[in-house]
Amino acid sequence: NKGKYEHYMQKEIHEQPESLTTTMRGRLIRGGSCKAKSVLLGGLKDHLKTIRRSRRVVFIGCGTSYNAALAARPILEELSGVPVTMEIASDLVDRQGPIYREDTAVFVSQSGETADTLQALEYALENGALCVGITNTVGSIIARNTHCGVHINAGCEIGVASTKAYTSQIVVMAMVALAIGGDTISNQARREAIIDGLFDLPKKVREVLKLDQEMRDLAKLLIAEQSLLVFGRGYNYATALEGALKVKEVALMHSEGILAGEMKHGPLALVDENLPIVVIATRDGCFSKQQSVIQQLHARKGRLIVMCSRGDAASVCPGGSCRVIEVPQVEDCLQPVVNIVPLQLLAYHLTVLRGFNVDQPRNLAKSVTTQ
Ligand code: UD1
Ligand code: M6R
Repeated sequence: NKGKYEHYMQKEIHEQPESLTTTMRGRLIRGGSCKAKSVLLGGLKDHLKTIRRSRRVVFIGCGTSYNAALAARPILEELSGVPVTMEIASDLVDRQGPIYREDTAVFVSQSGETADTLQALEYALENGALCVGITNTVGSIIARNTHCGVHINAGCEIGVASTKAYTSQIVVMAMVALAIGGDTISNQARREAIIDGLFDLPKKVREVLKLDQEMRDLAKLLIAEQSLLVFGRGYNYATALEGALKVKEVALMHSEGILAGEMKHGPLALVDENLPIVVIATRDGCFSKQQSVIQQLHARKGRLIVMCSRGDAASVCPGGSCRVIEVPQVEDCLQPVVNIVPLQLLAYHLTVLRGFNVDQPRNLAKSVTTQ
């Protein structure tokens, strides 16, 4: 039931404040006079010790689920101190890459039935790793076959383009990072800031959804373009990949997410006065590096659309020469949850304006159960 919406993708984008609330329900402890703020993940609590002791955590997934893991990687590294590596499921299987008994392998899948991810799970089970699922579908094969895991509880997702599952996956993985990290004096302030940020996140997502009309206007400007580049780094490298994936899969426009640190190693050659480029430059430890990327793109007359923290338009946009998307600022590791929303809206409006099928893009299926 689409309710007041025209398409499932539109409905699922707009219901993210609610889906995120459901994802966190019963899992965050607000703390108080004698109780610390903390996280309780029923599905992981008996396995946390094993995960903490593992030699590395390896995230495995496809498409949007892979991108969600990439967004959560830095905070897991920071809080757990365990090395975190990334594998695209099909590539791990193709290479028969190394997976060991001492590894924790985390399988991220909305549907819980993606063939490549399932095959990677079978492979990791054979190799003796602890296998953890992050899934949306209770009773799915990946949920059943993993040793333990967390349901993201985002509710049923119908649009082929994954939207609310993406943001819920990131939130769950941030909570997993908090759970694995445990309470130490040295990271207490950081943990509390993240937990407060999680409580506040649905409200911030509701705020960023107000950019709907602005994103429609931007889509009108981009309607006839051949290509769109998206530059991100740090916490928002994943946002760049995921934004580009949304644009290509539903709006059927070529789009590429680029790690901004790689700009001079090739992509800069593409920049001219015609190619539109989104640069994600919200406030975090990489902000000044992104400012310098913007200056360099500007010097090559790039057509820039800069996503920045509210109030930062003047400091990111030299001489008012670019279009700016201002978003609310949240704790750095949660910023990808906010930043993806305008790009989801942009992909949605581009698709409608270009006259393509939003909920069932050509050639694609919601769950990819064949290889
Ligand atoms: C569980 C209940 C929830 C109830 C809550 C009350 C289910 C599905 N969930 O939620 O209805 O309100 O207790 O405390 O009954 N798992 C995997 N792989 C996965 C995902 C999950 O093995 O990919 C396992 C978990 O390890 C756990 C079980 O499935 O044993 C349920 O996981 P989850 O729903 O995340 O647990 P709770 O949040 O505790
Ligand atoms: O169900 P899964 O999360 O395992 O699906 C993985 C990908 O097939 C999926 O995320 C795909 O990339 C989406 N269509 C992206 O919107």
